Amino acid sequence: MPTHPTLHPALSPDKLCRLIARQPPGFALERDFYTSDAIYQYDLQHYWGESWHWVGHSSQLPNSGDYFLFEFGTESVIITRDESGQLHAHLNVCRHRGSRVCLEQSGNARRFTCPYHAWSYQLNGELRAGRLHLMPEDFKREDYPLLPAHLVEYQGLLFISLAANPPPLAAELARLAPLTQPFGLEQLKVVHQASYPVAANWKLALENYMECYHCAPSHREYARSHSIKDPEAFVRMTPELHRRCISAGLPTTEISMTDTSGQHAGHSAYYRRYPLYPGYDTGSEDGQPLAPLLGTLSSYDGGATDLQIGMLNNFLLYSDHVVGYRFLPTGPQETEIQTVWLVQAEAEAGRDYDLEKLIWLWDVTTQADEKIIRHNQAGVNSLHYRGGPLSQMEGGIADFYSNYLSTLANRYDG
Ligand code: FES
Ligand SMILES: [Fe+2]
Repeated sequence: MPTHPTLHPALSPDKLCRLIARQPPGFALERDFYTSDAIYQYDLQHYWGESWHWVGHSSQLPNSGDYFLFEFGTESVIITRDESGQLHAHLNVCRHRGSRVCLEQSGNARRFTCPYHAWSYQLNGELRAGRLHLMPEDFKREDYPLLPAHLVEYQGLLFISLAANPPPLAAELARLAPLTQPFGLEQLKVVHQASYPVAANWKLALENYMECYHCAPSHREYARSHSIKDPEAFVRMTPELHRRCISAGLPTTEISMTDTSGQHAGHSAYYRRYPLYPGYDTGSEDGQPLAPLLGTLSSYDGGATDLQIGMLNNFLLYSDHVVGYRFLPTGPQETEIQTVWLVQAEAEAGRDYDLEKLIWLWDVTTQADEKIIRHNQAGVNSLHYRGGPLSQMEGGIADFYSNYLSTLANRYDG
């Protein structure tokens, strides 16, 4: 009896395991990981299908019936709030013959009615009576609710997982909680979301985000304010940053954890505050503040935090705003980069922040990244591509590979 999940016949489990085994540590992945349809299907089923995903902020669902969709690859998930205020995540797949039930990206609904034969579901996923009288006599509507996904709220940030047994999250969130608490994440609101389609495999988009080796040559706007592109400056400026963190009310603890057991897709946590150059209070064009200080911060410390809650969920915490990133696979060589900007809930556009100024840095930076990533895929598609060695500034990629490859190997080896 085969013990492996189904794979594309062109890539047997044995071949996949050989590919993983011959992948040299410290080198970019082999071509197949970025080009193979079979590996893309594996990614959707296991890596994306099991990981935790940051889908949004609770402030996006203030009222009963508010909903939005979270979508990647083959999957679509409805995130909604029911009449009692409880949040839910359900697969957007009708339990009759499988149609998408909800077709709008966001909105407010009293119930979700399938557009095909009008089966109708409560906000909590239960199938309602009605339109069911033609079903067989022994049909029980309790047996056909929308399939639930796991949902966790962390300081207002919403995470879902489609796995039967999602990777652990509680211990990481407990360690991160005192570090992110001063930013008052639960009191944020989303003020802008942008989508940047890129013709590349999702791994190339994620990898690009995970290293700053390319920042100096590729991101003039970012590099003039963020010291992370220059390891020497970073080290030199860190003691002063820590002094300013403490006086602003921010811990200086760092967390870096990557699960390489192969058991848990995307299981990682990262928190590090790093210095901006003198004259920069935040990630703005001129160094000036962009919005009211977040949470309980008492001053600008001149830092920015890289925060990762699972490999696929990356955030930048400035003193006055937060930027969230997602790299959603939409095809083997198609990815949607989604960038989300959040500020303090009470801040008013025009009075407390200028939206254009707020989004300037990560808009120009992501547009530049789109080009870099697209050209990266084009080169990797060449039959002559061979993965080269990673630099000391690409440690984040090495961590991703360890988790990704060990997960792959665990699902298919033996
Ligand atoms: S597929 Fe949804 S009601 Fe038939
Ligand atoms: Fe970049």
